[in-house]
Amino acid sequence: MILPDGYSDIPAGKIAAIVTHLEMTARPAHRADPAGSWSLRKVDAPALTWYRDLFRRVGENWLWFSRARMSDAELAAIIHAAGIEVYALVVDGRDEGLLELDFREPGQCELVYFGVTGNLIGTGAARFLMNRALEIAWSRDVRRVWVHTCTLDHPSALAFYQRSGFRAFRRQIELAADPRLDGTLPRDAARHVPIID
Ligand SMILES: CC(C)(COP(=O)(O)OP(=O)(O)OC[C@H]1O[C@@H](n2cnc3c(N)ncnc32)[C@H](O)[C@@H]1OP(=O)(O)O)[C@@H](O)C(=O)NCCC(=O)NCCS
Repeated sequence: MILPDGYSDIPAGKIAAIVTHLEMTARPAHRADPAGSWSLRKVDAPALTWYRDLFRRVGENWLWFSRARMSDAELAAIIHAAGIEVYALVVDGRDEGLLELDFREPGQCELVYFGVTGNLIGTGAARFLMNRALEIAWSRDVRRVWVHTCTLDHPSALAFYQRSGFRAFRRQIELAADPRLDGTLPRDAARHVPIID
């Protein structure tokens, strides 16, 4: 369906976002790591409670709901699938950033989830995490690395990805049931996005 020009009503109880898809088809120029004592840890066969906790701490303020809404069986089927790799950014022994890579499509890598917890935003930790993500992705037999971000994500995300070497190629509108209305996320999450019900 093609939306008409002009304003379109979003039904009460739903959220809406503009999604931008970005890609790179060659290894980008190296960017220096900011100074900081971060490290990356590969998490094989992540425990569901561990994954849910980190996903929530990184994404709740940005209304990340997709994985939070899944049953344990659905979540395990994805994050334990062959070709999915989950990494944690470690700070002072704590997992404070999430990187999930999807190599299931031959020749491609999708950054499925990428983010750091609130205290680390704007500290250089995300640049460290992106440098590691691109090193891992481009060390494999890939021709394309891609990611998408939406207007509910942190406002720096799109420019951050562009500086990282990604080029925008597709724009979509995504509608979804507001995850704060069905118990997926707490009602007071993401106060900057008002609930309209
Ligand atoms: C969106 C997000 C990835 C953006 O990252 P950020 O926090 O602004 O990124 P950083 O602070 O690591 O880096 C920003 C810039 O400041 C620089 N910087 C920050 N602190 C620095 C420091 N102490 N010393 C030197 N440089 C520093 C970085 O090098 C970087 O510059 P560059 O992009 O030109 O290399 C991050 O905010 C985030 O994870 N948000 C929550 C989840 C989210 O929305 N994820 C995206 C969903 S798709």
